Amino acid sequence: MARSSSNVTALAMALLLLVGLSNGQLQVRFYSKSCPNAEATVASIVRQAASSDPTILPALLRLQFHDCFVRGCDASVLIKGGNNNAEVDNNKHQGLRGLEVIDGAKAQLESQCPGVVSCADIVILAARDAVAFAGGPSFDVPTGRRDGKVSNLRDADALPDVKDGIDVLRSKFAANGLNEKDLVLLSAAHTVGTTACFFIQDRLYNFPLPGGGRGSDPTIPPGFLAELKSRCAPGDLNTRLPLDRGSEGVFDTSILRNIRNGFAVIGSDAALYNDTSTVDVVDSYSGLLSTFFGPYFRQDFADAMVRMGSIGVVTGRKGEVRKVCSKFN
Ligand code: HEM
Repeated sequence: MARSSSNVTALAMALLLLVGLSNGQLQVRFYSKSCPNAEATVASIVRQAASSDPTILPALLRLQFHDCFVRGCDASVLIKGGNNNAEVDNNKHQGLRGLEVIDGAKAQLESQCPGVVSCADIVILAARDAVAFAGGPSFDVPTGRRDGKVSNLRDADALPDVKDGIDVLRSKFAANGLNEKDLVLLSAAHTVGTTACFFIQDRLYNFPLPGGGRGSDPTIPPGFLAELKSRCAPGDLNTRLPLDRGSEGVFDTSILRNIRNGFAVIGSDAALYNDTSTVDVVDSYSGLLSTFFGPYFRQDFADAMVRMGSIGVVTGRKGEVRKVCSKFN
């Protein structure tokens, strides 16, 4: 009797394992046998890129968001079409950079282990390394994603926009299995990096006013408004300014304090302080006591990155492993 029940248990375990494998679960160090230097190679390419251009680090972090929120983390954003109808040609990806760093890592990995490491995983690994090299947390990320076989211009319409109100932002995150805590934590990636004036022109000069007409977003404190206007003149689309005023070089919670105090630069960050549920999250991480008693921003940010990295992944036998990240095989 005891023997037959242990046989049943063994069979059940074997079945579970089989289901797990055919579902192609992500796992930490997925390439440890098939391409042992995969993670070290990506890290060294990212480090090399950052040594000549440190602004590549925030760009690589942003790239994960832009990949994962459109069709899942499947490297669809890397495909170059030619007819302006690839996903990357959508305006929502304006200013996206770092794609050539992914291409460079892929080229090295193809020479080490041809056809093994997906572009989708390289995006995730590069973003993880970018966070650590920018002074953020170091963390493990599960890998084993495969590359998608679709890239559609219009799919990127679904990306969150600087003009989205809090309800729209929440629903766009919810559509990807992320809650308002994730929304706040991941928006706090804006602790590093810059925005082009393009994204705040309307907030400064063409904002729909409650009483009718257009002007400046009335929630911006007057001194800060003057500062922003002096840096982004009407019609200036290209000048860049830090997203985290006064602390752009440090990966910290200052962005959340800025949001709390009305110093958010882009509209979607400001919107996080317009709704009780996100206000509570912003407050919980930006208070001085959280450094000692939690919640712990660095740990929770890393966990949120891992959750974002699992959106709509292609695994198992689906999709493909591209030879070149910008082209389907
Ligand atoms: C909530 C919705 C979000 C909106 C509307 C948004 C919007 C923007 C905009 C307009 C920029 C400036 C782009 C440029 O001018 O080059 C930007 C930059 C950036 N975003 Fe977001 N973002 C959002 C969420 C996120 C998330 C979830 C991440 C990553 C976890 C992220 C990471 C970044 C980073 C690191 C930069 C700086 C890029 C650079 O310096 O090149 N953003 N974002």
